[in-house]
Amino acid sequence: MAVMNSAFDPLYGEAWTRRQVEDALVIGNCHYQLISPSGDDPHDGTPAAGFYLSRHGFEEEELLLFAIDPAWRRRGLGLSLLREFADAARNRGARRLLLEMRRGNPAETLYRRFGFAPIGERPNYYRSRDGQTIDAITFSFDM
Ligand SMILES: CC(C)(COP(=O)(O)OP(=O)(O)OC[C@H]1O[C@@H](n2cnc3c(N)ncnc32)[C@H](O)[C@@H]1OP(=O)(O)O)[C@@H](O)C(=O)NCCC(=O)NCCS
Repeated sequence: MAVMNSAFDPLYGEAWTRRQVEDALVIGNCHYQLISPSGDDPHDGTPAAGFYLSRHGFEEEELLLFAIDPAWRRRGLGLSLLREFADAARNRGARRLLLEMRRGNPAETLYRRFGFAPIGERPNYYRSRDGQTIDAITFSFDM
């Protein structure tokens, strides 16, 4: 939750509450992983530098949340975590990864570099706190 609360720009309202995360995790098909500043699994007491939360469906897994704390960005942790996500999802039976992103999110560079490609758009799907509407773009990665 510390990373959640520091990583997402409040303008877009993308951070989830603790309650939303807990509700997702009790469903059983949602998975998460943390990453430490050194790129490993955080040990007890080590603060996390980032995390993902995903939802598995039949032969697909969707990245619901993905964030690196601003203090630890541009050191390759996001790319490492994305690779760990792909490996874990593959082990859970996924053959395709999906994610949805607001148009203009700089994360697009990372997603494309990893190999994600756009497959669809929802015009004006999001509304930011200042009232502007923003398209959603769906990306997929076939494994
Ligand atoms: C997106 C995010 C997870 C990237 O984490 P990160 O650890 O900084 O990413 P990495 O260091 O692994 O970046 C790897 C490459 O991706 C690209 N990249 C990452 N962030 C970028 C940015 N803000 N602008 C442009 N390119 C970027 C670069 O090519 C980078 O390589 P380089 O640093 O050698 O140029 C992080 O910026 C974040 O938490 N953003 C806020 C939350 C968010 O929007 N999540 C995605 C929701 S869809």
